[in-house]
Amino acid sequence: MIKLVKPSVPEFEQFKSLAISIYIEELVKYREYSSKTAATQYAHEEVNGMLPLGLETPRQFILFAKNNRNETVGYLWYVTEPPEFTAVNQGFLAYLFVLPEHRKKGFASKIMDAWEERLKLEHDIFFGYFYVFRDNTPAINLYKKLGYKLQEDFGWADLSTTKRYFMAKRYEKS
Ligand SMILES: CC(C)(COP(=O)(O)OP(=O)(O)OC[C@H]1O[C@@H](n2cnc3c(N)ncnc32)[C@H](O)[C@@H]1OP(=O)(O)O)[C@@H](O)C(=O)NCCC(=O)NCCS
Repeated sequence: MIKLVKPSVPEFEQFKSLAISIYIEELVKYREYSSKTAATQYAHEEVNGMLPLGLETPRQFILFAKNNRNETVGYLWYVTEPPEFTAVNQGFLAYLFVLPEHRKKGFASKIMDAWEERLKLEHDIFFGYFYVFRDNTPAINLYKKLGYKLQEDFGWADLSTTKRYFMAKRYEKS
């Protein structure tokens, strides 16, 4: 059982710093950037650019995942977007992270299930997508297990240079 909770402003600021530092590590680890300095600049620009009004930025949702002891076990950041890849509104998963000590216990699967439910019930959205680094095997396994499929169309990304896959899923109307 997990609960998704909106953080306080100080918690959000801590989350943002963590998200940027992990993103910098990933950009270098998955070889999208060879220089840490360039990765640092890119990560700050992208994350701050997506959140000009911080936690209150319209269409941006940052939530902490709590277990049944009310401990934070992970984070979910998603965006609701107007039609682009589909004729309908779509949900973009910007960030999913489970704290290392809570991994392999099913929390990411539960967070993703809760994301899908929120998209459907709160936003009337039936299409979810995201980018994932091609060498991030744990994440790709997770998303495939949940029914997300690799897509050909990378949207913004240049196929010859990107180190990411584009994955997506259409949700059933229940
Ligand atoms: C990827 C991540 C979110 C998985 O979180 P988790 O809570 O450990 O995942 P779950 O326990 O729900 O695992 C669900 C499935 O994911 C896959 N998976 C998870 N960890 C894995 C690993 N280390 N190796 C291979 N597959 C893995 C498996 O298919 C697993 O199903 P199984 O338990 O039946 O084998 C977590 O490792 C993480 O936060 N990594 C760093 C951040 C990241 O990469 N986020 C995704 C960015 S796109």
